Amino acid sequence: MDPLEPHMRYALLLAARGRGHVEPNPLVGAVVLDAAGRAVGEGYHERFGGPHAEVHALAAAGEAARGGTLIVTLEPCCHWGKTPPCTDAVLQSGVRRVVAAMADPFPKVAGGGVRLLREAGVEVEVGLLEAEARRLNDPYLKLLRTGRPWVHLKWAMTLDGKIATAAGDSKWISGEESRRRVHELRGRVDAVVVGRGTVVADDPLLTARPPGPRVAARVVLSASGDLPERCQLRATAREVPVIVFAAAGNDAKLTGWADDGCEVVPLPPGEGELSVDAVLSDLGRRRMTNILVEGGAGVHGAFLDARAADELHVFVAPKLVGGSGPSPVGGRGALRMADALAAAEFTAAPSGEDVYLHGFLR
Ligand SMILES: NC(=O)c1ccc[n+]([C@@H]2O[C@H](COP(=O)([O-])OP(=O)(O)OC[C@H]3O[C@@H](n4cnc5c(N)ncnc54)[C@H](OP(=O)(O)O)[C@@H]3O)[C@@H](O)[C@H]2O)c1
Repeated sequence: MDPLEPHMRYALLLAARGRGHVEPNPLVGAVVLDAAGRAVGEGYHERFGGPHAEVHALAAAGEAARGGTLIVTLEPCCHWGKTPPCTDAVLQSGVRRVVAAMADPFPKVAGGGVRLLREAGVEVEVGLLEAEARRLNDPYLKLLRTGRPWVHLKWAMTLDGKIATAAGDSKWISGEESRRRVHELRGRVDAVVVGRGTVVADDPLLTARPPGPRVAARVVLSASGDLPERCQLRATAREVPVIVFAAAGNDAKLTGWADDGCEVVPLPPGEGELSVDAVLSDLGRRRMTNILVEGGAGVHGAFLDARAADELHVFVAPKLVGGSGPSPVGGRGALRMADALAAAEFTAAPSGEDVYLHGFLR
């Protein structure tokens, strides 16, 4: 094992502390070792617009950094953004060596940070724990690569695979601990997305309670524009943003929603349903990095049919309701088992009295 690996693992842990605070910037952590290999500084990118990880870590190390090593989870930047280039701080610190987990594909960096440091005589290595560093910044990397946010799908279901009873009642399927986790997720994403069916059936508020580091916009998908005259989302649109996507033409039915402060976005009508990709492309243009799709079955099905979901959060409650209640995923689905979507890195963990299932879809 590379002797620097434990330090890089720690830097990745530090980086994760910025989750929800720094997006659309990447999560970055850094550790500084002195010339004898002792850890003398650490830091992470704490908030959007604030100093980068290297700057915190090098400042903490001070003179002890001279002749030492900077371990950082992402290539140092070499451009002026909201803060000066990190390469300046690296050169001023006098470190002899920089070990980065991965290059930064951000167009204004893209290997430029590594080049600049090497030209100045600093020894630079890239690639230590690269897979872990990529996983950590999957949402950042996806937004850069595709212009679309990272899509989390979440649902709570009974042991017999229902997300509501046959009468449409779904409060509550999961227990307190699972609901706490969902609120935590809401508090670190840029948008919470539901379909018209869920607004009609549940009249949800979709805010994070207690609030998290970010305030997610609440997004409703309704090609028909047939949304209720009164509901919690519309009533609170001036406090927490609401965006409604509707098919062009049907957006005219939503002038009352717009008057109450909701943003109504017309999309091409397509074949009766909204295009998931058009929705994602719009949210990506707003530089949304993570979105949480909370259902119901129709919307989950549409995202899965479009192969547009990245990460899965499923809460299974030890309850059986039977009958003809809806299952979590509708849509076209697969006709052959061989075409089923597979969840990777699939894990199960207790969540109060429930089980929390987690996996990635690509
Ligand atoms: N347990 C849970 O975690 C959970 C979470 C959420 C909901 N639920 C339950 O789920 C049920 C609602 O599910 P649902 O399937 O009826 O409704 P849904 O998925 O919330 O909404 C479906 C509607 O979304 C709109 N939509 C826009 N674009 C779409 C697209 N590309 N594909 C599909 N739909 C699109 C359509 O409205 P238009 O007709 O206007 O085009 C469609 O009728 C309720 O019983 C609710 O309680 C459970």
